[in-house]
Amino acid sequence: MKDWLVSKEDFESELSKKFEKAYFLKKNASKLHDYFSCDDAEAYLKNNEGWLQNILMLYQNGQDFPIPANLKLNAKGQFNYVLDAFKSGATLKLEELEKRNFTISEVCRYFENIFGGKSWCKAFWTSFDEEGVPAHFDTTSIVVVQIDGAKVWQLWDGLLEMPNSSMAYSLNHSQLGKPKTEVTLEAGDILYLPAGVPHAAKSVDNHSLHLGFAIEPISYLDVLVHGLKLVAQETPELRKSIIDCAAQNESEIISNFLSKIDQGVLNNFFREYKFSLFANYISTTKSQLRTLSQAKLGKGMFRRTNERCPEIKKYDDEIKIAIPSQIISEKPVVVGDPDYLSLPLECAALVDTMLNGDAFVPELLESEFDESAHKGLVNIMLDAGLITVV
Ligand SMILES: [Fe+2]
Repeated sequence: MKDWLVSKEDFESELSKKFEKAYFLKKNASKLHDYFSCDDAEAYLKNNEGWLQNILMLYQNGQDFPIPANLKLNAKGQFNYVLDAFKSGATLKLEELEKRNFTISEVCRYFENIFGGKSWCKAFWTSFDEEGVPAHFDTTSIVVVQIDGAKVWQLWDGLLEMPNSSMAYSLNHSQLGKPKTEVTLEAGDILYLPAGVPHAAKSVDNHSLHLGFAIEPISYLDVLVHGLKLVAQETPELRKSIIDCAAQNESEIISNFLSKIDQGVLNNFFREYKFSLFANYISTTKSQLRTLSQAKLGKGMFRRTNERCPEIKKYDDEIKIAIPSQIISEKPVVVGDPDYLSLPLECAALVDTMLNGDAFVPELLESEFDESAHKGLVNIMLDAGLITVV
């Protein structure tokens, strides 16, 4: 992970206090402009010629308009079309940067490790004195990181508390009245905006480039919806087509369904989900760990991954170790079944030793198992992100 924050402790402490509650500004808090620049944004546009209609949106005079898909067929091309639009005052919104830039992808994983759920990133590139995207609120938390130039942000009091995407609607300045505050962002500054806080930004430099990191943790609603799908697996009435509902009374339908819902299934799911959520979040990917394990196993030292302690449950014939929540990284956020590593109960003492926080060498561990079993277990735990190479 690149060192993109000036003080990780300072930023994380402020973010944990204000998350989903209040906006805050941190001056000179980011070094992300060392890793992503206007040149990178320009290269991104050039490299995606022919595809820009899918990953770029233009804004001008309070309106958004897409890039024609067929421009690659004539001499002008999409990049030149975008360049002309930018020169005439359009703001460019570059999407899906988390899939296309390594450092940005790492920053998104960093937010996912803290909050769970999903994080993605868009860049906004605005020419002088242009407002770009009109006043609006987002339905996720946003961490704004200024990369180049300067921008003045107007902020209003939050209109909705933790809105989700079904609650989005358009705003205009006259509805909003006078802004609550105005702040200027320069390269290196970070602004946190909770979902639902209206904002508008205007470039006050030759141009302005900022990144907006969306943070969308899993909500109670997401978990409840998934829990109800599990209930439906046991309840055929819930899977029935709604086509014959006209003949029935609404309150009867609802009370009938509520009586069919086995709350025990929901309780179990919530309990297991909670257990999984508080498990160890890994910062190193499984593939990196696999490479490391191949390179080091047999002569290396290992230790529990430090980000968060894994949670272990012992049953009659097995132990379960919670590993990070399984999130399918597509929008909208999908909640999956909690993910566990299940091992025979006989491994319990050995697992405790490996996860007690001390560094260990597999060959030197004392247990009822032999050396190859120790190495086998180390490989399994590396794959699950529970231990790491020291
Ligand atoms: Fe926004």
